[in-house]
Amino acid sequence: MPITYDEELRCFALHGDNVSYVLAVDGEPGGAVGARVRHRYWGPRIADSDLASLLYDLPTPGWSGTWSRPRAHTEEYVVHGGLRYDECALKVDFPDGVRELELEVTGHEVAGEELSVSLVDRRYDFHVVLHYRVRPAQDAVDRWVELANEGAGSVVLQRIASATWPLPQRPGPHLTSLVGRYAVETQLTRQRVNPGVHVLESRRGIPGHAAHPVVAVDYAGERGGAAGTGASEEHGDVWSVALAWSGSWKISTQLAGDGALHVTAGVNDFDLRHELAPGDRLTLPVTTGIFSPAGFGGVTRRWHSYERSYVDPRPGVDRPVSYNSWEATFYDVECGQQIELARRAADLGVELFIIDDGWFRTGPGDESSLGDWRPAPHRFPNGLRALADEVHLLGMRFGVWVEPEMLNRDSDIFRAHPDWVYRMPGRTSHEVRHQLVLDLGRAEVQDAVLAALDDLVGSGDVDYLKWDMNRPLGTVGTPVAGAVWWNHVVGVHRVIDRLRARHPDLWIETCASGGGRADLAILSRTELAWPSDNTDAADRVAIQRGYSFVHPASSMLCWVTDVPAHLTKRTAPLSFRFHVAMSGVLGLGGNLLSWGEEENEQARRYVAQYKKIRSTVQHGQLHRLEPSHGRDSSGICHISADGSEVAVFVFARAVAATAFEQYVRLRGLDPKASYVDTRTGRVMSGALLHSRGLVVELKGDLASALLTLRRL
Ligand code: DGJ
Repeated sequence: MPITYDEELRCFALHGDNVSYVLAVDGEPGGAVGARVRHRYWGPRIADSDLASLLYDLPTPGWSGTWSRPRAHTEEYVVHGGLRYDECALKVDFPDGVRELELEVTGHEVAGEELSVSLVDRRYDFHVVLHYRVRPAQDAVDRWVELANEGAGSVVLQRIASATWPLPQRPGPHLTSLVGRYAVETQLTRQRVNPGVHVLESRRGIPGHAAHPVVAVDYAGERGGAAGTGASEEHGDVWSVALAWSGSWKISTQLAGDGALHVTAGVNDFDLRHELAPGDRLTLPVTTGIFSPAGFGGVTRRWHSYERSYVDPRPGVDRPVSYNSWEATFYDVECGQQIELARRAADLGVELFIIDDGWFRTGPGDESSLGDWRPAPHRFPNGLRALADEVHLLGMRFGVWVEPEMLNRDSDIFRAHPDWVYRMPGRTSHEVRHQLVLDLGRAEVQDAVLAALDDLVGSGDVDYLKWDMNRPLGTVGTPVAGAVWWNHVVGVHRVIDRLRARHPDLWIETCASGGGRADLAILSRTELAWPSDNTDAADRVAIQRGYSFVHPASSMLCWVTDVPAHLTKRTAPLSFRFHVAMSGVLGLGGNLLSWGEEENEQARRYVAQYKKIRSTVQHGQLHRLEPSHGRDSSGICHISADGSEVAVFVFARAVAATAFEQYVRLRGLDPKASYVDTRTGRVMSGALLHSRGLVVELKGDLASALLTLRRL
């Protein structure tokens, strides 16, 4: 049973294959503090016979009236009120000016893998339901909250996090996060958690480039005052929390002076004022907690399995090799040139051709027509269909770039509806890239955007949309101040959901100036994500390493582009550029019109090779390998779902003299099975490949290798 309830102890135990999560109710309904829901355990799987000990064998903290009470790490959902000073998840204003909550438990329901615990405020008709869902095979617990105002007046929500995640009190907590900035997204970073509150967040209306809405915690212990090493790639306990929200978010980690630790995850409360009118309900986004007893690699594989099972809209479906014309032509797009690019792409083995920004622009650059999703007549005199037909004749699918939340002032949509954009009376309307943002919280704006996209997808024979979002929200005055941060995101989700329902075969790529929006909520509505505008293969290694810490390669779109790289001006060999892109979903993004026969020949070979390994790469198990060729080297091993195929990538920025041939130690193989190295025909046991490894030769700068093995 994934969920057990001990009636006598009033205790719920949620069990995954390797994890247990325990909460209990204490106090009496109507008593001094009422019946409260308390957190008791989250960690390695325990027995139901342990529950009594979890409830009664509690350390007595040194008494002091200065503590926040109850302590945050002992509560399931910390609300603002009473003597609580720790980071809380929920804060509301009642109509009479009361700003504190006093919740008590009114009931619970267990249904299969789901548990809900209902609470109500002791004075106001304000209801909170805590929802839990266990995903046993992934050692995951989903949590979300439903709020309902059954009272007579409006309640204003000031803070609406989806969960408090109490973590164990062990020495030396460390936080792993995916932080960075534009073009340097998802840098895997691990740092000691210091006392106080550490906040990772976005206030931009999208998840943003500065941090990805996911964290992981492990403990390094204390050895004579110095931190130990903590969890490793393969060993040690790691807890991870992610939030499925495509807008402004906040994950705060609070470490108290005595080592108590809790993480609060949810919608960002910055500038939030969400009114719940009488009778209104609000379901907060899902936050998921995963526990791995098998180190960071274990966390990654659990996240991948979780996304494949519960997030990916097309699990197990191979992603096509694509071509995107952005870096080849930028805004300077016209039909004949795109047809020529499409012909070259098809000749190299490409399966999906995507025309990027520019096709609708009546002028040069980025100043016109954004929001009018019709081809510019001087670029496409016979409409987009002329290109779509040619692409289809060449045997490829046809994709189109759009940025549905945006418009230029110089556009028909703005001329017709100047009141549809966010603005604040008396304040400057700031533009970024000459763009304003549509108020997608409004139903009529959603309908108009949906109609335009529907028309485009239908009339242009479009199979794929690249949904971009290139500027943060700002000056977001709306009739309901502060609710915009919620409403915009819900509006985006709604439009995508309705569009997908009308066009079930349509594929969508999520992009926000690169990796600005790739959270679990948007990934459940899109087949692919563009992790970064930085296509420099040397930089991509780290960006992709971070992205794939949580997301499987099946959503990680990677292009091979020209050198010097557009953003960094760095040059890398074509082999390195291909290998880096082949470790995700391979795409081409260079100007194929200037590729010579030698490049074309190599590209054909790489594309063909990729098609052979793509199921393994996209849907297999990922294992990060130890650096083999110096500190700046890295390796990844993908193992197909049935364990029969193995693809190993090794990358090195600079190989030292006399250190060309090195052993690369593999991970995740069956030690007892035999594997044949398809290059040499040599047969080795999984045990040998783990303990000694495979000899790989790399030379020079930006060197790489792709090796494949087959289990016998
Ligand atoms: C930002 C994206 O990340 C790029 O790939 C490209 O689509 C441009 N926008 C187009 O404006």
